[in-house]
Amino acid sequence: MSFTVTILPSGHQMEVEDDESVLDAALRQGYALPYGCRNGGCGSCMGKLITGEVDYGPMRPRALSEEDEAAGKALFCQAYAMTDLEIEVPEIGAVKDIVVKTLPARVVEMNRLNHDVMELRLKLPAIERLQFLAGQYIDILLRDGRRRSFSLANPPHRDETLELHVRHVPGGSFTTQVFETMKPKALVRIEGPLGTFFLREDSDRPILMMAGGTGFAPLQGMLEHVFAQAIDRPIHLYWGTRSREDLYRDEQVRAWCAEHTQLRYTPVLSEALDDTTWEGERGWVHETLLRDYPDLSAHDVYMSGPPPMIAAARPLFLAHGLPETQLFFDSFE
Ligand code: FES
Repeated sequence: MSFTVTILPSGHQMEVEDDESVLDAALRQGYALPYGCRNGGCGSCMGKLITGEVDYGPMRPRALSEEDEAAGKALFCQAYAMTDLEIEVPEIGAVKDIVVKTLPARVVEMNRLNHDVMELRLKLPAIERLQFLAGQYIDILLRDGRRRSFSLANPPHRDETLELHVRHVPGGSFTTQVFETMKPKALVRIEGPLGTFFLREDSDRPILMMAGGTGFAPLQGMLEHVFAQAIDRPIHLYWGTRSREDLYRDEQVRAWCAEHTQLRYTPVLSEALDDTTWEGERGWVHETLLRDYPDLSAHDVYMSGPPPMIAAARPLFLAHGLPETQLFFDSFE
């Protein structure tokens, strides 16, 4: 059984089968709706359900609160149509024509960046190039059918190798493999590029970037892209981590600040109380950003990090005047 979905404000119409999510149907038919995790955890695919009914199965998706649902919001990566629908969600022209590929890739370099982050560099077969937008991610396809998502930390013009920042998740089988048994020359399969977290180049608003931990990776790709393209917009990067050691590209960012006057940088440590020599900011990174920018109405904000950081920051940023259309985020465990 299939239903008709009308996407507003474009008026595009598509068919959705009863065994596929609204997002899957859209991507299958070439409509680029916003998305990130595709598992109900990040909230990137949220839009409005204007008319019709959707079903989420027995559990409400994590990123959809009761208040969201009561306000007519829907999470389209998890929503199955029960009737014809009218939905309101911005279509993203820039990713529409980018081809998602499944490819073999070889690990050509592994660099420990600190105690629990590894830089993996992957090389594609000689005849292949991955066309992507700065900030998008790829999935590594595991043999058992599961997949692990990692942001591309390199900008599109630096694509001889794909750069990933892999944080060791205790008990996580893939990241443990990366830290304990993987060696250069290993082969993996990837799918990508994916997601709609990328730099919007049609805006001229000043940019605030906020990273949590390895959420720095896609922002690194965006920053290198900005510098290479000579995009002349002020950028202030906030990077929140537990300790100083977790700021694994701190020196690099400081070197960029010295070279590019458009960039400001504020690292924020949430722990490390015994680090008496740290003279920088302490506390929650989103609170530090809001202290510096209590009025966000004129900015574009890009944030990337763990779900609790995104969940804490999103409503506060909107309450401080940030238009919802100017907030872009990526949320990964
Ligand atoms: Fe739908 Fe993340 S919640 S893409």
